[in-house]
Amino acid sequence: MTGNEQSGHELILVIDFGGQYNQLIARRVREQNIYCEVIPYTTPIEKIRGKNPKGIIFTGGPNSVYLDDAPRMSEEIFTLGVPILGICYGAQFMVYGLHGVIGKANANKSAEFGRTECTFDNSSPLFDGLKKDSIVWMSHNDYIEELPEGFRTTAHSDKCPYAAIENPEKKFYGTQFHPEVNHTEEGVDMLRNFLLKVCGCKQDWTMKGYAETTIQEIRSKVGDGKVLLALSGGVDSSVACALLAKAVGKQLTCVFVDHGFMRKNEGDEVEAAFSDMGINFIRVNAADRFIGKLEGVSDTEVKRKTIGEEFIRVFEEEAKKIGKVDYLVQGTIYPDVIESGTGNAAVIKSHHNVGGLPDYVDFKEIIEPLRLLFKDEVRKLGTELGLPDYLVWRQPFPGPGLAIRIIGQITREKLEILRDADLIFREEIANAKLDRSINQYFAVLTDMRSVGVMGDGRTYDYVLALRAVTTSDFMTADFARIPYDVLEKASVRIINEVNGINRICYDITSKPPATIEWE
Ligand code: XMP
Repeated sequence: MTGNEQSGHELILVIDFGGQYNQLIARRVREQNIYCEVIPYTTPIEKIRGKNPKGIIFTGGPNSVYLDDAPRMSEEIFTLGVPILGICYGAQFMVYGLHGVIGKANANKSAEFGRTECTFDNSSPLFDGLKKDSIVWMSHNDYIEELPEGFRTTAHSDKCPYAAIENPEKKFYGTQFHPEVNHTEEGVDMLRNFLLKVCGCKQDWTMKGYAETTIQEIRSKVGDGKVLLALSGGVDSSVACALLAKAVGKQLTCVFVDHGFMRKNEGDEVEAAFSDMGINFIRVNAADRFIGKLEGVSDTEVKRKTIGEEFIRVFEEEAKKIGKVDYLVQGTIYPDVIESGTGNAAVIKSHHNVGGLPDYVDFKEIIEPLRLLFKDEVRKLGTELGLPDYLVWRQPFPGPGLAIRIIGQITREKLEILRDADLIFREEIANAKLDRSINQYFAVLTDMRSVGVMGDGRTYDYVLALRAVTTSDFMTADFARIPYDVLEKASVRIINEVNGINRICYDITSKPPATIEWE
């Protein structure tokens, strides 16, 4: 579980040629309950053979196969006897590698971007049972001009005679379009056809199985050693904790530092979920200590830095009380692994540093029990392990917490106002059943006051901002189109139930140009 492989499962290899959708392809495969790994195109063929994959998918990529520095791999990949699906650049690389011809980019003639109507040959296993005509998502300049020997065309668009190709004898398939993106109407079915009908996958990857295997692996690795985990209450550390609890019980010590900038009731909820799990659960109530340091501070970076440093200090003190531990748990997940170079030793080191913990906690080794999982799989695993929905579906929450949602100077009074207002907003989002479709939503207490009238009197109170975004990666985001009546309910309740606020605004900027948080 600290490595990159799950043994005993059928495996699909996604070979990364630098396309922007590589993770999405991998997720689509996993959604079919089939285990897959993303590996770089530079992986030696012997290593690929050794993994014994049931199928291979070449991702797209930004390059033309003719560029000197285009990503290419040894043509031996075509001699493994393993089915291959090439997507976009991957299909072009397949054609090029098997001695067909790729036409060079010609914007007027060959380039296709966006929604494109395609006609399919349903006798191909890739399109078996699907519609004859449907929409696909194209994004290419170069195009397939001449097919290699043994290939035939199985789909075409207006501009593209070879929108999909196949060599059924060798089980090689290629699509010029992207089946992995939602815009391709029947893309998921096409991928499923490849995985089931071409590769013969049995769909043996489930979170139940993953939990059982990983718990056994952790047990045999840890023996009677001591394990330490820093629990934030976020999805990843919560699920890691639940997994470790099942595996090693009392050998696990879990430290939850409550810095006082959690949302309403959050600290108690975390405690309620973990304190009777049969582990050593330590909640450090450090609110006074943190707020003491931050009262009156208004600079964002100072807020972040102070909380980060203080957090480490508190954790260090607790770790010292526990004494030497053998293993430290980190909640690294698969997207982190892929982004830092598809899983090699250097990754573990960078996560050491990112976490900041290993420098001052004396331990032998790191355990990363979620290292192979995507976020949606981590949530499924959490449910499988019996964690409550409010933890499994918890929206992301920044480490410095509400401290960076109070614009300007932090005071205890403002913290209380924000906590109460934020709770009401979250309740109304949940009441409207929007809590799973909006990816992050919260209140921000601005440092601005405005004039209002309540009853017969003039008020001069804070302006509260509500922020809600939809996003898949938190790198870009769109403001959520919350129905007016939901916003109205939240607004009326906040004004009536929380003292100190007399005006509420809804943030309608996307990211970029804004960020998700206000500080
Ligand atoms: P921004 O505001 O940069 O946020 O668009 C992107 C995502 O990161 C979260 N975020 C943080 N998380 N420590 C964290 O652990 C931080 O200092 C921090 N700042 C922003 C934010 O909530 C959003 O999900």
